[in-house]
Amino acid sequence: MTARVALVTGGTGGIGSAICKKLADMGHKVATNYRNEEKTQAWLQQMRDQGYDITAVKGDVSSPEEAEALVREVESKLGPVDILVNNAGITRDTTFHRMTSQHWNEVINTNLNSVFNMTRPVIEGMRERKWGRVIQISSINGQKGQYGQANYAAAKAGMHGFTISLAQENAKFGITVNTVSPGYIGTDMVMAVPEEVRNKIVAQIPTGRLGSPEEIAYAVSFFIPDEASWITGANLSANGGQYMGW
Ligand code: CAA
Repeated sequence: MTARVALVTGGTGGIGSAICKKLADMGHKVATNYRNEEKTQAWLQQMRDQGYDITAVKGDVSSPEEAEALVREVESKLGPVDILVNNAGITRDTTFHRMTSQHWNEVINTNLNSVFNMTRPVIEGMRERKWGRVIQISSINGQKGQYGQANYAAAKAGMHGFTISLAQENAKFGITVNTVSPGYIGTDMVMAVPEEVRNKIVAQIPTGRLGSPEEIAYAVSFFIPDEASWITGANLSANGGQYMGW
C-alpha cells in the first residue's frame, strides 16, 4: 500500500491514540494536534515505548487560525496531508433546560466547527493530487440522540450533513468522505459518565460490554485503502448493536 500522510485530530485521546497506531501500522506517516504540552510529552513517550513515531503539533482545532497553522506545520514536517481523521471531541453533558451558551458553543466549536477548520486547509491539495480520505468520528448519539447531550448530538449529527455533501463535491477527485459512528467505548470520556448511568447504558448494548478504541480504529482503517474507493458518503456504525438504524 502507498504510504500516505495522515493527520488525526485529538490523537492523544483514547480513540485517537488507537487510530494513530492503526494508521502507523498500515505504513502511513501519522501526525496529530495537541493542546496540553505536559500531557502530550508523556503520551509521545508512551508511543515511542510502543515503537510508534507520531508527529505532534500544537494547535486548537476549534480555532480557524490555529487549525490552518497546524495543518501547514504538519505539511512542512511530513508532506501534504492525504488522510484527515476529524476525531477531536469533547462533552459538556447537561439537560437542555440547564445548558448555558458556553456549554453549547464549546461543544459546537470543538466537535463541529473544527471539521470545517481542519478540512478546509487540506481539501484543495487533495483535489489537486486527485487522492484523499476525509473521515469524521461522529457518535451513536448523533444518530439516536441522548438525554443530556443536545449540544453533542447536534454537533455529531451535523457531521453527517457535512460528510454527504463533501462526498458529492469531491467524488470526481479521488477523494472519499465517510463517517464512523462509535457507540460507547471504554475511554475516559465514557468513564466520566456516572457509574450507575453508565451501567444502565451498558445494559442496553447487545454485546454486553463497552467497545474498545481498537475496534473503532479498525472501522476507520476500512475506508483508507484504494480498494475502498467506491465507498463514499457512508456512515459506518460501530456500536455493539446498541443502535441499528439505517
Ligand atoms: N432517559 C430518560 N430519563 C433519564 C435518562 C434517560 N436516558 N437519563 C437520566 N434520566 C432521568 C433520571 O432517571 C432522573 O429522573 P428522576 O429525577 O425522576 O430520578 C433524571 O433524569 C435526572 O437524572 P440524573 O440524576 O442523572 O441527573 P443529573 O442532572 O445529575 O445528570 C446527565 C444529567 C448529565 C444528563 C446525566 O444523566 C448523564 O451524565 N447522563 C449520561 C449522558 C451520556 O450518555 N453521555 C455520553 C457521554 S460519552 C460520549 O458522549 C461518547 C459517545 O459518543 C457515546
